[in-house]
Amino acid sequence: MKKKTFIYNMEGFGPMSKKLSEKLHIKKGAYQLKRFVNNEAQIAIKDNVKDSECLVLGTNAPPDQRTIELMFLCHTLKKEGAKKISAVLPYLAYTRQDRKEAKKGLAIDWFAKTFKISGVSEVVTLDIHSQFAKKLFEIPLVSLSPAEIFADEIKKISFTDATVVAPDEGAINRCQEVKKYLGIKEPASYFKKKRNGQKISSAFKGKVRKRVILIDDILDTGGTLIVACKELKKLGAQEIIIMVTHGLFANDNWKELWNLGVKKIYTTDSLPDVRKTVSSGILILSIAPVIEKYFENGE
Ligand code: R5P
Repeated sequence: MKKKTFIYNMEGFGPMSKKLSEKLHIKKGAYQLKRFVNNEAQIAIKDNVKDSECLVLGTNAPPDQRTIELMFLCHTLKKEGAKKISAVLPYLAYTRQDRKEAKKGLAIDWFAKTFKISGVSEVVTLDIHSQFAKKLFEIPLVSLSPAEIFADEIKKISFTDATVVAPDEGAINRCQEVKKYLGIKEPASYFKKKRNGQKISSAFKGKVRKRVILIDDILDTGGTLIVACKELKKLGAQEIIIMVTHGLFANDNWKELWNLGVKKIYTTDSLPDVRKTVSSGILILSIAPVIEKYFENGE
């Protein structure tokens, strides 16, 4: 990046922002978030951003707490004269609301519109849950892939003889992409998942070896992966590793995975708080190189 650029990061993204600022040779910007006694927020930018291009690294999760800060920050940068604002949200909350249903709100539609009115020129995220959200954005939305990072890790731990399994049909493409980096050409092995309220049932298609790698975009309650692991165990899997892009770890249910043959869970730092919430056995992979590559090639 040669132009006048700044990177601003929301709380928790400091280490990733430092890496990106060094690799991309862009200045770390600073801002202050002031909360009035009544909790209203005010943002003050500490730099001269006139005619600059700004990367805002942050999140809209959890939405109630972080969305206002994110949007006010972008809006203030715009007001101060920033020419282009790229909002980099490695995890984009609410994209699982991907169906229009009668009488039900569609939160991602609102989020999508909010970026534009806050002065954002593009949104960059990682492994978006479904393509549906893309249609709702009025500005470009780019979804980067962690597939190469996952594949590199699989090679590093010599797990290339394992079967790569998608815990539902939505995860088939992400598994195929990782397999492409591993040079594995076999057809997809996957579960046909059905949700009935909180209850999940899954039917397996494909083959299972003793070692299995389950790949998904999100681990939230762990329900999807628990059902898949139970079935895989019955089918002969002995050693399972899990790779998920976004580790939400919403409650403690996922811990059951350790009793089902799961040896390790890999996730990324798309949600920085993941470091505070998870215990040993979980490895966190940095996605900074993927973001770095995008901005190096894109600018
Ligand atoms: C759903 O389609 C997603 O790809 C994930 O499988 C799901 O969100 C994971 O949620 P949970 O861990 O609560 O089953």
